[in-house]
Amino acid sequence: MSAAETTEVQLVNLTIDGQEVQARPGQTILEAAQAAGIEIPTLCHDPRLEPYGACRMCLVEVEGARGPMASCGTAVREGMKVQTRSEKIIKIRKFVLALLLTNHPLDCPVCEAAGDCRLQDYAYEYLVDMVPWGWRGPVVGDPGTHPNIAHFGERCILCGRCVRICREVMSIGCWGYLNRGYESEVDTPYRLPLQEVGCVSCGQCVSTCPVGAIVGQRTPQGAREWQTEKTVTTCSYCADGCRLVLHSYRGKVVRVASEVEKGVNRGNLCVKGRFGIGYADAPDRITKPLVRNAVGEMAEASWDEALALVRARLAAARAEKGGSGIAAICGTHCTNEAAYLAQKLMRTVLSSNNIDSIDHGEQAASEEALKRALGVAATTNSRKDLCAAEVILVVGANLTECDPVLALDVIKAMRTGKTVIVIDPRTTELAEKAQYHLAVKPGTDPAALRGMLRHILDEGLQNADFIATQTEGFSEVEISLANVDVAAEAAICGVDADVLKAAAGAFGRAGAAAIMYGSGVAQGSNAVDTIAAIVDLALLTGNLGRPGTGLYPLKSGANSQGLVDMGVRPSTLPGGVPLDDEEGLARLEACWGSAPTGNPAGLSAGEMVEALEKDKIDVLYVIGADPALALADEARVRAALNKTGFLIVQESFPSDTAEYADVILPAAVACEDEGTFTNTERFVQRVRPAVSPQGESRPDWEIVQSLANALGAGWSYASPSDVMEEISAVVPDYAGVSFADLEDEGRQWPLADSDVCRESILHSDRSDGKVAFQPVATGGAPSAVDADFAFTLLTGCVREHHATGVRTRRSPGSTNLVAEARLQLNPADADRLGVAAGDKVRVAARGGATLETSVEITTRVPEGVVFLPGFDPAAPVTRLLAGRELGAPAVKVEKVA
Ligand code: SF4
Ligand code: SF4
Ligand code: SF4
Ligand code: FES
Repeated sequence: MSAAETTEVQLVNLTIDGQEVQARPGQTILEAAQAAGIEIPTLCHDPRLEPYGACRMCLVEVEGARGPMASCGTAVREGMKVQTRSEKIIKIRKFVLALLLTNHPLDCPVCEAAGDCRLQDYAYEYLVDMVPWGWRGPVVGDPGTHPNIAHFGERCILCGRCVRICREVMSIGCWGYLNRGYESEVDTPYRLPLQEVGCVSCGQCVSTCPVGAIVGQRTPQGAREWQTEKTVTTCSYCADGCRLVLHSYRGKVVRVASEVEKGVNRGNLCVKGRFGIGYADAPDRITKPLVRNAVGEMAEASWDEALALVRARLAAARAEKGGSGIAAICGTHCTNEAAYLAQKLMRTVLSSNNIDSIDHGEQAASEEALKRALGVAATTNSRKDLCAAEVILVVGANLTECDPVLALDVIKAMRTGKTVIVIDPRTTELAEKAQYHLAVKPGTDPAALRGMLRHILDEGLQNADFIATQTEGFSEVEISLANVDVAAEAAICGVDADVLKAAAGAFGRAGAAAIMYGSGVAQGSNAVDTIAAIVDLALLTGNLGRPGTGLYPLKSGANSQGLVDMGVRPSTLPGGVPLDDEEGLARLEACWGSAPTGNPAGLSAGEMVEALEKDKIDVLYVIGADPALALADEARVRAALNKTGFLIVQESFPSDTAEYADVILPAAVACEDEGTFTNTERFVQRVRPAVSPQGESRPDWEIVQSLANALGAGWSYASPSDVMEEISAVVPDYAGVSFADLEDEGRQWPLADSDVCRESILHSDRSDGKVAFQPVATGGAPSAVDADFAFTLLTGCVREHHATGVRTRRSPGSTNLVAEARLQLNPADADRLGVAAGDKVRVAARGGATLETSVEITTRVPEGVVFLPGFDPAAPVTRLLAGRELGAPAVKVEKVA
């Protein structure tokens, strides 16, 4: 307990087993004991869940109480005297265990949980070696048909944890009780397969089951708990930054687990994090350098040969065009260390600012609007602050699929009575549960937000004090909203004006309200306006700089935030420093020993395509990204990659981009790599290798260093830790961070003043300047559909796959659930088109691009809107996106005969 805590709250004094203990008011005896290092056995307890009191293993004696009490559900009291291991208590525990074991098949030799089973551990610890009513013999159980999750109901001890985690944490409810008394069982409704009862395959029930009743399906690579090495690392998929424990055996990761109460995810994971690791052992892993030979085929080469060729081509390009002829794109799972070195290579050795991240396009509007208004393009608060929010507004973000673990905090907030407002054309899972769903027409988010702003002003709900003391530019916004009519804005965006007003009123009246927005916002033709209106909403109501308030721009990849921080942007240096910032340039020059390339700014990833078309770039270096599928206008991007003078692809798999490569440098995957990721909340967390890189593949940071040294840089980083040491010296927000410092838990930047900043809320101290309102001139416009091109196409992610699916498509844990992208179509539209679920349709864009895909019929999309995720190269949605700047495109959908 920290010194601050002891002074701020009146702590409760009690004794447990004769030991004097202090606890916070409201803590349970179990929590107080655990904090004091006193172990009390539990079976039905999981800190992620409300106390339940079903198993009675945690009974303790409390002096003066009439009988033993469940420590998991009894709050501490001043002066309490607790005995956790009295003779009576031990006897009760033995009795409880004997009862459980009577009905529990003793099939430990074949049980997946053996060695990781509380019942087994306690039976051994409490010497329950004889059950008076006889043992129950082994039962040949049926694991069920879920690809990742096995259910052996006969091993169930009815602790109810799976029932509660699926209901309380996931807000779903796949498990429930059947029958009564001795016949009680836990199963799905009507014993249906999990896949048919709304299961999202998160594996949370696997993580909580204390025995082997719900476990991961056996895989050929299975290994016992005690056989595996455990490595704590950070998930490399989405930007939530979940802490994982990788179990490895004989050089392979065989299982992914989590630590309850640790990491930003507190033990929760989603389907990708828990089951999406199989890609590491995909049969098509690239494990040797490959070089295109004289007949145009990729042939194996040594590292020396590959690096010599790359060196020669880079040197030639630099000699011919200078740095402007070279460009680099980083993927979102590049570690901070690899990303930092990549931009340093570009900005010093190769004299080029042409470096960008693959996801910059969807982040650009947000970065621009946030920098203009607040000076910093990052999430202002943390997810733990969400519990202090009275209202959470979610704009254009499908949280439960794109940020599945972050979504759990919003779901929890909703469960505890907080109001959630969703602005989204689709009826996402969150929208379905939210108090207010403003199902706007695609592209009209600014109208909904302007309507909200106007209504808040009409009702006098603005925070006048905050506006007067901490903002600037309010009068311009007031003028821009002067003639705005709420009903007219509601009509533009196609929502009921009364619902819009009610949502605005709820937001405006909240003592603390937070706003999250996601990639859906970037699909509007007016993303900058939308985000400006979002910022205005926060400022108008004074929702900035306090717990429960703030802006959460959601990012798409594990290190999306880190790439910005490391300077993987064409116009900013590490730390977000502008290219003409003399102090920043001097700091880098002092550290690097040579000046980084200053102005002019380099090219963004999108602009690189045009430069490739015009032969302005001779060498493109792609690190862990797949522009062939990720960038809008697939045909154009592929043509540009095809004509690239020299394409270096640093990858672990033959991605679609790798098809055009001249050299492929085999990269280690995340479970073989070391470094850090910075998550969407600005937490810098360790990435650790659980196994060695396969074959001759190498970690990204090491490859970049080899390349730099081949070009004469003379770098001598012995490890990623060395690179972080340099980052902490040149990136002010990372000052003071080191691998040793991150050993136990991640740290949130700004890190300079560690104790204070561990709780950091950006903009809580505005002594350095005011935050700026930005007028929003228009309410946006829906896409230009017509009789032929009658549908608006939206895209985004699905929970089983990430980005272009290079890794999840190679993970059986994902593909066995969702193998192909399907076009979501409203039932009324399906009727009109005469298509049934699973039928093939052709989707055509106005420019002539077409693709064929099968159909999923769902009310999640409204009439006139279709949705296609981006992970499937057989139906590449980017083919239909001729230019995101024009907003969501209108497309034609027709049945394939
Ligand atoms: S995997 Fe997740 S959604 Fe499915 S039953 Fe278990 S907890 Fe519920
Ligand atoms: S299946 Fe596991 S978690 Fe669920 S009630 Fe049974 S023992 Fe508890
Ligand atoms: S994909 Fe995202 S939500 Fe899922 S485990 Fe990984 S970091 Fe967490
Ligand atoms: S852990 Fe307390 S009753 Fe089960």
